[in-house]
Amino acid sequence: MSDKIGVPLPVATRRQNPRRRLHPIALWTLAACLTFVASSAYLSSASSDGRARATHVPWNAQDILARCATLSMVPGPPADFHARDVSDRYEEGIPSTLIKNATIWTGRENGTEILFGDVLLEKGLVKGVGYVPRTLTEGLKELTVVDAEGAWVTPGLIDFHSHIGIYSLPTLRGTFNLNSHKGPILPWLRSIDAFDTHDDSIQLAIAGGVTSIQILPGSANAIAGQAFMLKLRTTSEHSPSSMIIEPPYSLNGTVVDPFAPPRWRHLKQAAGENIDAYGTRMDSHWAYRQAYDEARQLKTAQDAYCANAQAGLWDRVMGDFPEDFRWEALVDVLRGRVKVSQHIYEAVDIDAIVRLSNEFQFRVDSFHHAAEAYLVPELLNKTWGGTPAIALFADNYRYKRESYRGSVHAPRILSDNGFPVIMKTDHPAENGRFLLYEAQQAYYYGLPAPLALASLTTTPARAAGLDHRIGFLHEGADADVVLWDSHPLLIGATPVRVWIDGAPQAVGPERGVVVGRGKEAPEWRELPDVPDWRKERKKVLEYEGLPPLKVENVAGRVVFANVSEVMVSGEEGIQKTFSGATEGNGIVVVEDGKLVCAGIARTCSSFAPYDHARMVDLRGGALAPALIAFGSPLGLEEISYESSTGDGPLYNAFVKDVPVIIGDTGGIVQAADGLQFQTRNALLAHRYGITVGTSYSHTLFASDVISGLSTTFRTGAPHALADGAIIQRVSALHYSVRRPPALDLTQSGNSAPSVSTRIAVLRRLLLEGDEGSKSATVMWFGRAADGRVPLVLDVGSADAMAVLLELKKEVEEKRGTTIRMVFTGAAEAHILAKEIGEAHVGVILTPSRPKPETWDDRRLLPGPPLSNETAITTLLANNVLLGIGTPDAAFAHQIRFDLAWAAADAGGRLSPDQALELASVNLERLLGIDRALDGQRDIVAYEGGGPLDLSSKVVGVVSIGRGVVDIL
Ligand SMILES: *[C@@H]1O[C@H](CO)[C@@H](O)[C@H](O)[C@H]1NC(C)=O
Ligand SMILES: *[C@@H]1O[C@H](CO)[C@@H](O)[C@H](O)[C@H]1NC(C)=O
Ligand SMILES: *[C@@H]1O[C@H](CO)[C@@H](O)[C@H](O)[C@H]1NC(C)=O
Ligand SMILES: *[C@@H]1O[C@H](CO)[C@@H](O)[C@H](O)[C@H]1NC(C)=O
Repeated sequence: MSDKIGVPLPVATRRQNPRRRLHPIALWTLAACLTFVASSAYLSSASSDGRARATHVPWNAQDILARCATLSMVPGPPADFHARDVSDRYEEGIPSTLIKNATIWTGRENGTEILFGDVLLEKGLVKGVGYVPRTLTEGLKELTVVDAEGAWVTPGLIDFHSHIGIYSLPTLRGTFNLNSHKGPILPWLRSIDAFDTHDDSIQLAIAGGVTSIQILPGSANAIAGQAFMLKLRTTSEHSPSSMIIEPPYSLNGTVVDPFAPPRWRHLKQAAGENIDAYGTRMDSHWAYRQAYDEARQLKTAQDAYCANAQAGLWDRVMGDFPEDFRWEALVDVLRGRVKVSQHIYEAVDIDAIVRLSNEFQFRVDSFHHAAEAYLVPELLNKTWGGTPAIALFADNYRYKRESYRGSVHAPRILSDNGFPVIMKTDHPAENGRFLLYEAQQAYYYGLPAPLALASLTTTPARAAGLDHRIGFLHEGADADVVLWDSHPLLIGATPVRVWIDGAPQAVGPERGVVVGRGKEAPEWRELPDVPDWRKERKKVLEYEGLPPLKVENVAGRVVFANVSEVMVSGEEGIQKTFSGATEGNGIVVVEDGKLVCAGIARTCSSFAPYDHARMVDLRGGALAPALIAFGSPLGLEEISYESSTGDGPLYNAFVKDVPVIIGDTGGIVQAADGLQFQTRNALLAHRYGITVGTSYSHTLFASDVISGLSTTFRTGAPHALADGAIIQRVSALHYSVRRPPALDLTQSGNSAPSVSTRIAVLRRLLLEGDEGSKSATVMWFGRAADGRVPLVLDVGSADAMAVLLELKKEVEEKRGTTIRMVFTGAAEAHILAKEIGEAHVGVILTPSRPKPETWDDRRLLPGPPLSNETAITTLLANNVLLGIGTPDAAFAHQIRFDLAWAAADAGGRLSPDQALELASVNLERLLGIDRALDGQRDIVAYEGGGPLDLSSKVVGVVSIGRGVVDIL
């Protein structure tokens, strides 16, 4: 009894008691002692033979009945909600704003309604959309008028799966609260209790147009805890609680009208391999069933108690209302008052959760990640309570076995099957700032535009039970609005302004940043065309997510027709040799993989007629140099999280002696020795026109120091001995000058060496390095010191870079050599752009749009709408030889979109040709692979547009080395 009274009852009593004017503390005491009185009164009446007696009605019968009445109430807004004219989130001092002359995507009509006109924001609400009569604005004292000049306006974006605040960036031990490790079943935990309001990701997400997030606990538990829907605006209270959109009444014991509908609660569950701390899948599923059985028993007892009370059978109403603080959240799930978000990947787990939901009869509102959902739509539809929403990544698969069969075509396939589709980032798994990029990619792969925009607005708003407030622009909605510099489904779309609860956020003009430069042309306002993916969709279903990635090799003559642009790489970088914009649609003739003619039809007439040629219609597309994937273990692993599919861990000479048998105290290795060909990531990269990879071994959490020697290979080659498969066995020597990571997520217990230790060792190796040494380490560092092999230093911090620049000078002076030094990672390189340029040190930004992942990366240059310059524009302006890389093999095929972002962010200062150089000729020079590639460079054929356009897709790879054209 004591634990019932001690904690839970006062809360419950306060929540339910209709005499709301009583002070909560008074009620608390009253409840505590009166429960005792009530039960003794009951005991005395039950001690005599009660059959013939009139029923003894307890003194608190009304309270009991009121409480019982609430059990059947369905969450939702109160009846008078739509009559509100001030938001409960409005704060004094927030000015009214009239956005004039906008192109407004409202979210209504299934995402098809587009209005031209104005949007009025007042008192935290949208007060008018489209036509806003003057009478609405005339009386307003402080009215800010923003002329949108026809630009797009959407509701603020919602990231339905985020860990902002509980996995705070930069990552620090003290703010890492992603998961509890106290058991598989933890429905009593609440993510809001750990939310760090100082997370750098908050302002960055706002800069991406994200105004609301669902803050889900991590996925290491079957029932991981309660989630909360937050707005990202910093409130005057500066508290996490005040960010919650509609705090559930149970949150802090808010006194409420028991006759008002309850507010939605949210819960995170997870199934599959992440729960392995508590056993196998069988164990975690039993844990679920046990937990829901507890909840069901409690609910049954509550229902029986209330059935008796409501029937007036007071003799049977024994004791207190049955309660258990631990299980109340799950009872609410069973009562249909909790929106459940289910982390899940594979059919095996989807099946188990569908069974669970039917066994205990509760709704699972959304399945997250859901890599195999598109393969089992009928199964998913058997979820108790009806069709769930599916929250997906656009293109983030194969990193673990569970996601191996995931597909970029899933959003379209699922929406064709009647499922509401949500796109999400799982920040920081993906950079939450670029939530919109998820929808852009989903749109690229066939999700219709209205649904792509809905996937970040109306659909998650519905799945959260908050569509009466967020996700739409209509009168009475919360004033969360984004004004975009271009069509939101174009890569690079950036907020010019963002309002949350009507309050302007510190982006764009609010902080003196010009947004949208270089995007003046009218096509930046238009919905881009996208390729036809019908064939690919059919294939991915036919092969259950693993369609063959083989290409057809065509020798002889191949003719590309309807070509609008041909770019080739030469001494001066990438140049256009032909542009259809001025010369009309062109022809490109290829003989045995060699480009022999490019121009208008007449130019190549000596090759006509093309009777025996393979004709490929590029529909206005382009030919451009193939790209290079740098910086990931591409080709060294199949599945990142399955170490048994990779090269295996490196010996870390800083932690443990390298076995004597290697004969080298540094344990230096050559990545070429661990290469695997035909990995899915590599073959996919080839199909996307990234035909060359430079890879080296490195583990996820930066505890390695000497990563050994990278190798450069062809991503499409069948094996190492095939012609041209290995372009350059050893490309560069790699060494990490990063700080030890904040978290040892590998639990290896390895203490990584300090920055100064790493530099001390590097200094010694460079000064004493010796070509003639028997030690591979001493020999290779000698070669690096002599400039015979590039020295690629993985470094984030500008302070470490400064020391490295000095070290370079010291070694060069002492040895009389020139080191070919390159910084990779390099998030803070912009701080030393001038010095890096002067020292002739190259930079490979890896990744090209970083987040402040670690302490070393925290001073990244965010670019518009937070700064006018980007890291790329700053480094190029200082004559730094610059490339971009990708740390993740599963993302290697997306490089051309990274380049599209770089060009769009550069405000007109980076032409498409220059952007392409960042992942081709510049990398060649930095890594010293230009000579090896000379005369061997592949050319990629894009159908429907240029390499940076959403309208295009790769249809062919021209390989001079192999004398063929690969046709996809
Ligand atoms: C929205 O889509 C649903 C389902 O496809 C359809 O039933 C409904 O009529 C559509 N509503 C509008 C306004 O187009
Ligand atoms: C809206 O802006 C567009 C683009 O600047 C302009 O062409 C148009 O005249 C404007 N319309 C109004 C009503 O101001
Ligand atoms: C509970 O928290 C919310 C959000 O901070 C606040 O608005 C409300 O006043 C609080 N209620 C009580 C009873 O403290
Ligand atoms: C799933 O159910 C929805 C309606 O709830 C329906 O529109 C859709 O066609 C169903 N899909 C499948 C694959 O059964």
